[in-house]
Amino acid sequence: MDKRHLIYLSREPSADLTARFREAGWDVETVQSTRSVARLVRDRPVAGGLVDLSGFAGSDLDSIEACLALPNVGWVAIAAAGQLSDMRLRRLVRDYCFDYITLPARPERIVDAIGHACGMVSLEEPSLGDASPSGEGQMVGASEVMLALFRVIRKVATTDAPVFISGESGTGKELTAVAIHERSRRRNEPFVAINCGAIPPHLMQSELFGYERGAFTGANQRKIGRVESANGGTVFFDEIGDLPLESQASLLRFLQEGKVDRLGGHAPIDVDVRIISATHVDMESAVNEGRFRTDLYHRLCVLQVDEPPLRERGSDIELLALYMFERFRKEASQRLHGFTSDALIAIRNYGWPGNVRELGNRVRRSIVMAEGRRITARDLELTDHVEVVPVTLSQARESAERQAIELALLRHRGRLGEAAVELGVSRVTLYRLLSSHRMRPVEGGDDDASPTQART
Ligand SMILES: Nc1ncnc2c1ncn2[C@@H]1O[C@H](COP(=O)(O)OP(=O)(O)O)[C@@H](O)[C@H]1O
Ligand SMILES: [Mg+2]
Repeated sequence: MDKRHLIYLSREPSADLTARFREAGWDVETVQSTRSVARLVRDRPVAGGLVDLSGFAGSDLDSIEACLALPNVGWVAIAAAGQLSDMRLRRLVRDYCFDYITLPARPERIVDAIGHACGMVSLEEPSLGDASPSGEGQMVGASEVMLALFRVIRKVATTDAPVFISGESGTGKELTAVAIHERSRRRNEPFVAINCGAIPPHLMQSELFGYERGAFTGANQRKIGRVESANGGTVFFDEIGDLPLESQASLLRFLQEGKVDRLGGHAPIDVDVRIISATHVDMESAVNEGRFRTDLYHRLCVLQVDEPPLRERGSDIELLALYMFERFRKEASQRLHGFTSDALIAIRNYGWPGNVRELGNRVRRSIVMAEGRRITARDLELTDHVEVVPVTLSQARESAERQAIELALLRHRGRLGEAAVELGVSRVTLYRLLSSHRMRPVEGGDDDASPTQART
């Protein structure tokens, strides 16, 4: 087993205690000043931390707090009898330490406590360090509806059955299809997206299934169709409702037989792909009106995923606005500091018919157009949506708290330790707040599916 590291912060380190730790297999770094601690922490993944409060003065408390707030250290405090009647010391211990021990104490008790604290942080970090309560893959979201969507994504990713994604335009259907592919066993194989609305109907057949040389005048060389080019991976049929009837028949045949017929080809070719399709139109009526084959629809729609519209995602709207702001802020000519409060109100009040895509476009344009230090409702062209909806003080406090947490997590890409430092609370307090705001996704324990937020 690797040596465990202990940072022992004390004005008067005890040689006896240090020896006990070394005997128990710890690599001990003794520091007498708070200044050296940050450097030690930077070099290692996790460590135990023992802070001896007895030798420090009141004026040291701020720098001690900065040490205790460092991520990846499991701290235990030792204090002289009576010292913890000081309110500020009590708060430090309560907010940052896994345990405290009043002197005099048996050394084994201290060694045990550190072992426990170190174990607790190492439990935390691998599962939570990269995980973000604010998103899945490239998808940002912490609302109940989005957490439910992330769970569905992880579930359907484990099978090969066709998935049908419905949702308004701009809600993230394509992003969802990619997320499913990336969590499936096919993740290292191609993901091929076909926009059925963008390919002229008379070219659809050859685009999808390809042709042999000489299959028709002008077919000078063999063309591999998009379905075949995805072999082993996933094909995403976007705007499937626009697929011409002729191609619907071929697609159905492909789904039934798992073979592709190149135009002019002699024998069908085995192709193994997973099919995901999506549309923003109402497929039931397309089926009823005879524009879409019922049998194909049922084949495609084995698993159904519904993408919630942006207006139903609560404070994810601000979260996404900030995400888009971070993504596009470098396009600004001056330094911008986020949104004014009227902009945030307008963002929440507006109905977002174009969903996340529209939000991204508006934020991006406003970044270029903004004249002040912050983006206003006017920059977003949303001045009609600024009127204030009455709220009680407690609602206002709650939503301000929630927003601050979300923004801190977003800034620190979900790293709880760092977000807690920025928010000025302990990691433990942040956990509690996350659960009281119901912001933590339900962790399944499967690493691969643990929600992460990677920016594009
Ligand atoms: N949850 C989300 N988090 C971050 N970006 C998103 C999210 N949903 C959508 N987007 C972005 O919004 C735009 C539209 O998404 P897209 O998947 O193309 O929507 P749809 O296919 O439903 O029209 C894309 O730029 C996408 O990256
Ligand atoms: Mg799309």
